[in-house]
Amino acid sequence: MQPVKGLPLTELQQRVSAKWRGFPQDVLPLPVAEMDFEIAEPIRDQLMQMLSRSDTGYLGPIPELSENLATFMRNRWNWDVDTAQVFPAIDVGVAAIEMARMLISPGDRIVVDTPVYHNFSNWINELKCQIVDVPMVRDGLAYSLNLPLLEEAYKNGAKIHFLCNPQNPTGSVHTREELSTLAELAKKYGVAIFSDEIHAPLTFAEHEFIPFLNVSETAREVGITVTAASKAWNIAGLKCATIITQHEKWAATANAMPPAVHWRASLFGAFAAAKAYESVDWLDACLVTLDHNRKALGSLLKEKLPMVGYREPDTSYLAWLDLTALNLGETPSQILLERAKVALNAGATFSSTHSQFVRLNFATNEEILTQAIERIASVI
Ligand SMILES: Cc1ncc(COP(=O)(O)O)c(C=O)c1O
Repeated sequence: MQPVKGLPLTELQQRVSAKWRGFPQDVLPLPVAEMDFEIAEPIRDQLMQMLSRSDTGYLGPIPELSENLATFMRNRWNWDVDTAQVFPAIDVGVAAIEMARMLISPGDRIVVDTPVYHNFSNWINELKCQIVDVPMVRDGLAYSLNLPLLEEAYKNGAKIHFLCNPQNPTGSVHTREELSTLAELAKKYGVAIFSDEIHAPLTFAEHEFIPFLNVSETAREVGITVTAASKAWNIAGLKCATIITQHEKWAATANAMPPAVHWRASLFGAFAAAKAYESVDWLDACLVTLDHNRKALGSLLKEKLPMVGYREPDTSYLAWLDLTALNLGETPSQILLERAKVALNAGATFSSTHSQFVRLNFATNEEILTQAIERIASVI
């Protein structure tokens, strides 16, 4: 298997995706969660074949998707997924929103563990529900679920918990004990846990990712997984995600969703996802590159910006950086965009108490990463 390498800047600048269209050319864009790599060959071949026969219609039955997903989950995490309970949707956001719509009324409470993927709050606003913000427990730059506060939130009438498993932006993997306790609490207080597992395939080898529905019978009773191949194989623009249930009750809920949830998923996205779940060699090669990059970022920071707080993430390609010691004022990401021409995500979008943090996407080539850190070091 060839190593997965970051493409050169000049080639990346030809891209038309959000990451590369979002900023002027003199800015190094390291926010949006896209990878600056070539996609896996089997995915590319699948798409080329479909295009060459103008096979560009609607998504119909696709047993390949649930079968390949189930094989991947079994081999990777020892999780036996019942393929009859895998439902396509256009993306994870829509998957979560459409399933949640079946369970809530406007005004209901939905719990999130902050700092967390900023769109969770957008999804909750779209559902016209109330956000219940439960800050995670922080130990330096290691974060874990705040189980006592979560119990309080559950007791106070929360209907749903949007759990980011594993966690974006902190890069933490939740433990089996945390997830098992959470499942018991959810059962006790009648809360549905939506486990967003989109980053899971990118968990580094020394950490164990635990699929929520594989934790216990109780977890299957209270839990619904929303996930996609789009993050780990970098095919977000193709648009397909999956809802996974492993309990008759939730399967009935998923089957009662409007048929449009399936029909709105993309033919390209679904067939690309089916190929992705078979492209394990590519995924492993990608993880080698990401592992190299997370360490390279650590060395670069140590050398050029030693006052920045950084913990190598357990999963994925997002670095959660503490810039407090740089004293950049209220909006450090804005200052760095203006002065250093480096675009990063503002910490405040993930948590109101993390305005001194930024999120940096290191799924790029090492030259871009080095340049970005050098540019920041030169202006502070
Ligand atoms: C935790 C999490 N969920 C969902 C998404 C987006 O998924 P989608 O584009 O399929 O809605 C992201 C994107 O970065 C994410 O980090």
